[in-house]
Amino acid sequence: MKTIFEPFRIKSVEPIRVTTRDERVRLIREANFNPFTLHSDDVMIDLLTDSGTGAMSAAQWAAVMKGDESYAGSPSFFRFEAAVQNLTNFKHIIPTHQGRAAEAILFSMMGGPGRRIPNNTHFDTTRGNIEASGAEGADLVIDEGLDPQSLHPFKGNMDLDKLRSYLDEHGDAVPCVMVTITNNAGGGQPVSLKNIHATGALAREYGKPFIIDGCRFAENAWFIKQREAGQGDRSITEIVRDCFSVADGMTMSAKKDAFGNIGGWLALNDNDMAETARGHLIRTEGFPTYGGLSGRDLEALAQGLVEIVDEDYLRYRIRTNSYIVEKLDAIGIPVVKPAGGHAVFVDARAWLPHIDPLLYPGQAVSVALFELGGIRAVEIGTVMFGRQPNGSEMPAAMDLVRLAFPRRTYTQSHADYIIEVFEELAAIKNSLKGYRITWEQKLMRHFTCKFEPLS
Ligand code: F0G
Repeated sequence: MKTIFEPFRIKSVEPIRVTTRDERVRLIREANFNPFTLHSDDVMIDLLTDSGTGAMSAAQWAAVMKGDESYAGSPSFFRFEAAVQNLTNFKHIIPTHQGRAAEAILFSMMGGPGRRIPNNTHFDTTRGNIEASGAEGADLVIDEGLDPQSLHPFKGNMDLDKLRSYLDEHGDAVPCVMVTITNNAGGGQPVSLKNIHATGALAREYGKPFIIDGCRFAENAWFIKQREAGQGDRSITEIVRDCFSVADGMTMSAKKDAFGNIGGWLALNDNDMAETARGHLIRTEGFPTYGGLSGRDLEALAQGLVEIVDEDYLRYRIRTNSYIVEKLDAIGIPVVKPAGGHAVFVDARAWLPHIDPLLYPGQAVSVALFELGGIRAVEIGTVMFGRQPNGSEMPAAMDLVRLAFPRRTYTQSHADYIIEVFEELAAIKNSLKGYRITWEQKLMRHFTCKFEPLS
């Protein structure tokens, strides 16, 4: 069969308030043309992020009722720990309230002035935590990963030559080597098993711990199964275990591939580091058997980790993006190809060449998507990365718009609706105007800045 349907039935629904175009034009103006400022019940299809926005299963909600809220030694923790270890086999599992808290603990140990941390591409909170500690991050993804049109099957791969030169050059300044699966900042692009192994081997050769940012490990494993020679007959669980087998630890946002609305963890094999991390955890998150989470959250995550490796789910999940990317590509809208795991990325700079990058073509697309269709997407371009430390402005490497899909939340007809909105947008795209920022914060301005359309 050609149709890959949603492999679930719907037991509980949340109504979507259907708005008119006039209403949306008013709402986005009141939000100073920044979609982050909108109220989410004014949004019809919310593709701001896939983080914590997914639908929990009936089995997860049932597990919530089993949550044991004891301060210390809760059985919910031990079920959570066993579920994480079943997939990763790390020795120490340290629960945190979300991924960035795990990063903050990791870099309180591995960061600091003068230190340098390479990754395929650091996600912005990872980079933020590295820089806040005084260290520097480096993005060493393969060149294909920076080319929206390259059809390389593993555009998230680490460039092993660049990594070797980096390790030669910076030697003792490098406390660990990281890799992010899938490479979110680079378009949700996967990293091959071979590349994960080779990166781990290089880290070991230089005596550095190898840490995986594993937020979307199951989506990454699905791509490995589909695209990598010799992997097609293995189960997702086997591939996931193989990926983590070469690492010394991981950071995780359980709001992605653990089907959680909240949660995360730091995993480590080294006993001394884990003790230091737990000390930090007690100060900042909570006792080691709950971290920043309630017992019911831990139960929901333990069950989520059983469901995430389901191949029918992953097939549907990944197909949502490739379906939309194929249709947008067919109507001439420049998209990052091949489709990533959790999101569709539109190349706004290529699509709206009449808008200078410093006038934010990505912002123009995301505002228009809301006005035309009530869709909320996020600009990943010059608004997000253009402001320099000295306050000046530079075009980012790319001006993309990300449509990230919450897990198990929207259906095929939502996807068809999104495509239709793009068709309408394509017809009027030459009339779209750029934007000017009228107010901004110095750091991470995109969350709160205010815009004004150019007349
Ligand atoms: N690492 C990656 C690769 C991520 O995508 C995220 C979050 C984090 C770390 C931080 O995790 O949010 O639980 O603290 N990404 C979300 C997004 C926010 O929209 O892509 P967190």
